[in-house]
Amino acid sequence: MKTIIEPFKIKSVEPIRMTTREERVRLLEEAGRNPFLIRAEDVLIDLLTDSGTSSMSAEQWAGIMRGDESYAGGRSFFEFEREVQRITGFRQVIPTHQGRAAEKILFTILHRPGAVYCGNTHFDTTRANIEFAGDQAIDLPIPEGTIPSCYHPFKGNIDLARLERALDEHGDRVRAVIVTVTNNSGGGQPVSLENIRESSRLARKRGILFVLDSCRFAENAWFIKRREPGQENRSVLEIAREMFSYADATTMSAKKDGLANIGGFLALHDEQLATEARNLLILTEGFPTYGGLAGRDLEAIAQGLREVLDESYLRYRTRSVEYLVEKLQRAHVPMIIPAGGHAVYLDAGDFLPQIKPEEYPGQVLANELYLEGGVRGVEIGSVMFGKRDAQTGAHQGPKMELVRLAIPRRVYTQSHVDYVAEVVLQVFARRTELRGLRMTYEAPFLRHFTARFEPL
Ligand code: F0G
Repeated sequence: MKTIIEPFKIKSVEPIRMTTREERVRLLEEAGRNPFLIRAEDVLIDLLTDSGTSSMSAEQWAGIMRGDESYAGGRSFFEFEREVQRITGFRQVIPTHQGRAAEKILFTILHRPGAVYCGNTHFDTTRANIEFAGDQAIDLPIPEGTIPSCYHPFKGNIDLARLERALDEHGDRVRAVIVTVTNNSGGGQPVSLENIRESSRLARKRGILFVLDSCRFAENAWFIKRREPGQENRSVLEIAREMFSYADATTMSAKKDGLANIGGFLALHDEQLATEARNLLILTEGFPTYGGLAGRDLEAIAQGLREVLDESYLRYRTRSVEYLVEKLQRAHVPMIIPAGGHAVYLDAGDFLPQIKPEEYPGQVLANELYLEGGVRGVEIGSVMFGKRDAQTGAHQGPKMELVRLAIPRRVYTQSHVDYVAEVVLQVFARRTELRGLRMTYEAPFLRHFTARFEPL
């Protein structure tokens, strides 16, 4: 059949509260024109993130009831550990409350004065945890990875030539090579199996740890199956296992491909490092058989990991993102192509060329999507990553001005996606009327969460 259907039925529903444009104008103004500050109940379609927003299955809810809440040695931990081991092959499995907690532990124990990390693109919490430890993170995406309109089947790949040069230059100051699958900051784009194998080889040859940030490992494995020559007849589980086989450790946010609302883990082979990690875990998260989680959460993640590798789920999942991209592409809406695994990334710089980066085209676009149809996305551009020059006060922006529309897993149906496309196309039709914004408040760190704006 040509039609790819949602491979599930809906047993429990949550109402969406409808709002009028007049209400949304008032709500956005009260929120300082920052969608982060709007209440979720005032949003019609919430595409702020795919993290922790999945619908759980009946089996996951059943696991929630079965959760063993013992402090030490709970049955749910062993269930969780078995599932993580089955997929990743790592013997040492350390549960954390979410991905960044696993990062915090790993980058604390790997820290040495002057330490350097090289990756395809470090996600912002990864970079923040590395920098918080006093160390440096270097992004080495392939050139195609930073040009929205440029097609490449594995736009998430790390640039192997630049990686080799960086490893030579920084020598034993490099504590790990980190490959993020899929590359969230670069458009949810996959990394090929060959690229993982080769970057791992470069790291291991020098005795450097190779780490996978595996939040979206199943979506990445699916793209490998679909796009990498010779992989089409393998199961996604086999491909995922091979991906992990090249790594010495992995950090994972189970809020993505764990299909759970909270949770994460650090998994690795080295017993010595695992002992150090567990000692820190006890200090900051909890006892090693629950980490920062309840027993019921461990059950939900174990079941989520089983479900996420289902190929009819992955086919539907990636198709629903691609479907939205195709609809917008037909109208020539500028965005990152090809479609990523978990989100559509609108190219706000190209969408609103009349608005200079320092007038926040991405924020303007995110606001207009909310005003037009109550759709909430997130700006990933000059608001999130822009800085002011300390001396001159001049604006320094990132390479791309994007708005990410992240699709929660198993939450929205095709008509919701059609609605989102209609909203984007309506804003696109009146794009020349839109004007920039001025930031009226900014916090000293991570300003995008609380910034406030005024129209120019
Ligand atoms: N790594 C990647 C690639 C991520 O996308 C995220 C979270 C994390 C690590 C941290 O995991 O949130 O469980 O602590 N990304 C979310 C997002 C927040 O919206 O993309 P966490």
